[in-house]
Amino acid sequence: MAEVKAAVIGYPVEHSLSPLIHNFWIDSYGLSGSYGAIAIEPENLEQGIKALVAGGYAGFNVTLPHKIAVVPLCASLDEAARAIGAVNTVKIDPEGALQGYNTDAYGFWQALVAACPDRDFTARPALVLGAGGAARAVCYALGAQGVKNILVANRTREKAETLAESFDGWAVPWAEREIAAREAGLIVNATSLGMKGKQALKFSLNYAHAGATVCDIVYAPRQTQLLKAAQARGFATVGGLGMLLHQARPAFEKWFGVLPEVNAALYEKIKEKP
Ligand code: ATR
Repeated sequence: MAEVKAAVIGYPVEHSLSPLIHNFWIDSYGLSGSYGAIAIEPENLEQGIKALVAGGYAGFNVTLPHKIAVVPLCASLDEAARAIGAVNTVKIDPEGALQGYNTDAYGFWQALVAACPDRDFTARPALVLGAGGAARAVCYALGAQGVKNILVANRTREKAETLAESFDGWAVPWAEREIAAREAGLIVNATSLGMKGKQALKFSLNYAHAGATVCDIVYAPRQTQLLKAAQARGFATVGGLGMLLHQARPAFEKWFGVLPEVNAALYEKIKEKP
């Protein structure tokens, strides 16, 4: 097999964990290929992608700040990318056209189900905190999986309303986010709060339903204050690393032809990374 080249593009991109994940799989499956990290400044996005096409790349992942800007450059989009309005995975077809996909929603749901295989998340409402790109992917996944009541709380109210409207949900005032958790079977932090270098998320679990699962899409640090507090009170918790690992699986398959497994060895390897 000829060497298959893929990469993640972003700006900045040095801290991306994607090269570690994909190169782990290339080695594990004995494939001939490589996966790099390429910094492309926003003003050079189109040019930078053309260089990848010319360089014979099979495709690439897209991270901040390019996930939305890549959309109009794609010749086709999958349903998730269209609904979310963002692309995180591109396959370059033999003619050099870009096929855009969004695997973040898939990653979120797969990680959730892998962590809590016995829970039925469609039986109760879900509360999503945040209304950015990550929250859009989460809401899309919840809707696609049949969660009927999606509650969205966001600091900027209008963004919560726009997001809730897109996925048949309800906007909740940010000040009422804790009360809104009363009936929720799933609580998801999809804001950037709690991330290394950012403020912690202020969220009391006093009102939360005892059977709720608390999920944080933040993975740096691996254990956010929200997850620690939830664990201490006996809630089931799901960290953000699972979503990152699971979103990578269908992307890898598109370029390398193998749907790889998220296993303990990969978790072990990534645990060491800051
Ligand atoms: P991403 O695409 O990764 O989701 P984003 O679009 O910048 O990133 O969204 C960040 C989310 O975190 C938003 O929901 C943001 O709320 P606003 O829409 O009000 O900006 C939320 N967020 C960031 N800092 C926050 C803070 N200090 N308090 C409350 N929410 C915050």
